[in-house]
Amino acid sequence: MSLLSVTNLHAGYGQMTILKGVDMALDAGEIGVIVGPNGAGKSTMLKAIFGMLTISEGSISFDGADVTGIRPEKLAGHKIAFVPQEANVFASLTVQENLEMGAYSRRDAYDGIIDNVYELFPDLKNKRRQPAGELSGGQRQMVAFGRALMIEPKLILLDEPTAGLSPLFMSVIFDRVIAINRTGVTVAMVEQNAKQALAIAHKGFVLANGQNSYTGTGSELLANPDVARSFLGG
Ligand SMILES: Nc1ncnc2c1ncn2[C@@H]1O[C@H](COP(=O)(O)OP(=O)(O)OP(=O)(O)O)[C@@H](O)[C@H]1O
Ligand SMILES: [Mg+2]
Repeated sequence: MSLLSVTNLHAGYGQMTILKGVDMALDAGEIGVIVGPNGAGKSTMLKAIFGMLTISEGSISFDGADVTGIRPEKLAGHKIAFVPQEANVFASLTVQENLEMGAYSRRDAYDGIIDNVYELFPDLKNKRRQPAGELSGGQRQMVAFGRALMIEPKLILLDEPTAGLSPLFMSVIFDRVIAINRTGVTVAMVEQNAKQALAIAHKGFVLANGQNSYTGTGSELLANPDVARSFLGG
């Protein structure tokens, strides 16, 4: 059985339905990448999975539980973490304080988890006393990843983690996504850099107009001439 199953999902904003019957399934340990044109509903999809939108039809199951319509604060208990594209760190708090904020829902000791995060992102350890707002865009993205990892998620939802980054930092971020995934965390990631993202994806989902357009393994989608022509720039 899949770790995450999104079935026939309909969701949107107010009366406006954006997602019109989207399906997505990921097995434990996979990286799933969602690509598609601007306005396709990619961010809406992550927000709906994370309980931020009203779901009018369809269902979401995670790790054997029905989590359809469960609010974000409850989903931490189900070990789902979300890193939104914008405003994903507290700029005035230090790196260390940002990580501690990520653990606010925990009642147990988390020093060991902070150590694991610093092991995954050695740069952050050196900067742990610096306000996150003073870091580069790529480093801030790592703080956001680290903060999400503090709940020891089984699933991490990432919305365009490389947006606005230089090509060099982009590959560093993809590298870190692979490293997070290797620790056993399942990843669902939206990306504009579709070719690079599909290259590290176990499964790929092309969305267009709030519906599934193509679904396959990352390499199947990369090799599909229709996908390449319509969505990958030839
Ligand atoms: N908060 C909101 N309220 C109303 N409509 C919204 C809201 N957020 C997004 N939309 C609309 O929902 C549709 C899908 O938006 P969404 O942000 O999911 O697209 P996307 O695929 O993530 O695009 P992009 O590649 O530009 O990030 C768009 O038509 C957008 O205008
Ligand atoms: Mg988006």
